[in-house]
Amino acid sequence: MKISGNTFIVTGGASGLGEAAVRKLVKEGGNAVIIDVNVDGAEKIAQELGTDRVLAPGKVDVTEEEPVKKALELALEQFGSLAGAVICHGVLGAPPSVTGYGPGNALTSYEQMKFVAGINFLGVYNVAQKVAEILIKQEPLAEDGERGAIILISSIAGLDGSLVSYGTTKSAVAGMILPFAREVAPFGVRVMGIAPGVFQTPMTQVLTDNQDAANSLLQMFPRRMGQPLEFADLVAFIFETPMLNGSLIRIDAGVRLQV
Ligand SMILES: NC(=O)c1ccc[n+]([C@@H]2O[C@H](COP(=O)([O-])OP(=O)(O)OC[C@H]3O[C@@H](n4cnc5c(N)ncnc54)[C@H](O)[C@@H]3O)[C@@H](O)[C@H]2O)c1
Repeated sequence: MKISGNTFIVTGGASGLGEAAVRKLVKEGGNAVIIDVNVDGAEKIAQELGTDRVLAPGKVDVTEEEPVKKALELALEQFGSLAGAVICHGVLGAPPSVTGYGPGNALTSYEQMKFVAGINFLGVYNVAQKVAEILIKQEPLAEDGERGAIILISSIAGLDGSLVSYGTTKSAVAGMILPFAREVAPFGVRVMGIAPGVFQTPMTQVLTDNQDAANSLLQMFPRRMGQPLEFADLVAFIFETPMLNGSLIRIDAGVRLQV
């Protein structure tokens, strides 16, 4: 599927990897719709790249159904159709204000797991399923009958057994890729996953600030954090490559987390 002239939903598009995906899709001639709770960030990107190309439909929490539906309606009103989505929002943990979790509380609490799962797991399906419902009813975009593609963002933490709440939810996202791909395949929709390694974004600021901690994770080559543009290039490649379906791609410089 080509990117130029097509429209893509990007959750978490106001920051980090999602923002890089928005910029790449627009650079390649596509349009982007940012679904994010960070209204200021989304607005700023839309103003910079052009509101004719980027829609920032206000605050949209992926854990809620109605705001997501409304945002998708606005997307269709402005752009007419969709070609896919990058489900790229996420949280590393729950803030102590939500869970009481913090120094002294060594075990991940149930409240923390519930908070993180709501966003990183159920929030992923909430948006992905609603985008799929739109895609399967549209006309094919290509001669082979393709109606679009959805990319779910997992993490190497979910594959390497790191971080109880974050890693478990990211493992669940990895597990969603194949059954979801099988469900939408008869309609010409593809589902792929990306498991990023350690990338330089606001989520990993603590590692950018502490190179010793970063170096202890980055044992392979190249021994540096990934740049968001390198992730965005892979997003574009997946959209443009019809034979990619039902799989998860690690983009991690060979890193295997040991913690
Ligand atoms: N940065 C990394 O090293 C790395 C590694 C592996 C996986 N990932 C995954 O990549 C994705 C992007 O991460 P990032 O590093 O760009 O993080 P980030 O913190 O820069 O961006 C995450 C975005 O998600 C949004 N978000 C959070 N909760 C939301 C909610 N309830 N509803 C809507 N939007 C919400 C935030 O506002 C933010 O804009 C996440 O799924 C993350 O788990 C990142």
